[in-house]
Amino acid sequence: MGLFITFEGIEGCGKTTQIKMVGKYLDNRNISYIITEEPGGSSLGLKIREILLNKSSFEICAESELFLFSAARAQHVKEVILPALEGGEIVLCDRFFDATIAYQGSGRELDMNFIRQINAISAGHLKPDMTFLFDIPVEIGLKRAMGRISRIKNAPREDRFESEKIEFHKKVREGYLSLAKSEPERFRVIDGTKDILTVHREVCSQVVALIDGRG
Ligand SMILES: Nc1ncnc2c1ncn2[C@@H]1O[C@H](COP(=O)(O)OP(=O)(O)OP(=O)(O)O)[C@@H](O)[C@H]1O
Ligand SMILES: [Mg+2]
Repeated sequence: MGLFITFEGIEGCGKTTQIKMVGKYLDNRNISYIITEEPGGSSLGLKIREILLNKSSFEICAESELFLFSAARAQHVKEVILPALEGGEIVLCDRFFDATIAYQGSGRELDMNFIRQINAISAGHLKPDMTFLFDIPVEIGLKRAMGRISRIKNAPREDRFESEKIEFHKKVREGYLSLAKSEPERFRVIDGTKDILTVHREVCSQVVALIDGRG
């Protein structure tokens, strides 16, 4: 089996930036890996992503949102993540089931026990070997995320969550932090306000330790 590493945190905390940098680092060492993301990763996932992240003309209630993310995850795990892990690859995944706990659980306040059950089923009982949580104040994260959107011309607006109130994102951040506290052996909490290279070095040292640990 390969290694399953997930990247988590609120919008603009640096997940996509760091996952790409880890990819380059592994390229330089000829270690095979894939980068994938939630929701998405599979053809079904991409369709669901369009529904979930672009502001649509129709309502999506919290329960529907939970099921849509979970449906995308189930397909993603079966179609992409498990085959790669079985092939011995490192899977770098931009968000996974912890995001459901943070957003739909802490943010939307859906029942946590129910979410945990759905998470276990949608993930096929697969658990990340290591999870990075880039922790950052909500105001900084959202400012970065908005800056990124306005810089990229014709970028698809994925603003369903970005347009939520600051209070919502604060609950999400707290949700992530309490998850990390409850599973310290899996989580690596990294100060996302540090500069990109400093964060990258911290991430790489943890990834190397994980790979070496597997020997
Ligand atoms: N450590 C950092 N310091 C300053 N700016 C950063 C840092 N990390 C990332 N950024 C910048 O902030 C913006 C958002 O970063 P990134 O897209 O990696 O965040 P994200 O966590 O993937 O966000 P989202 O959840 O919206 O996908 C980008 O423009 C990126 O260049
Ligand atoms: Mg991103």
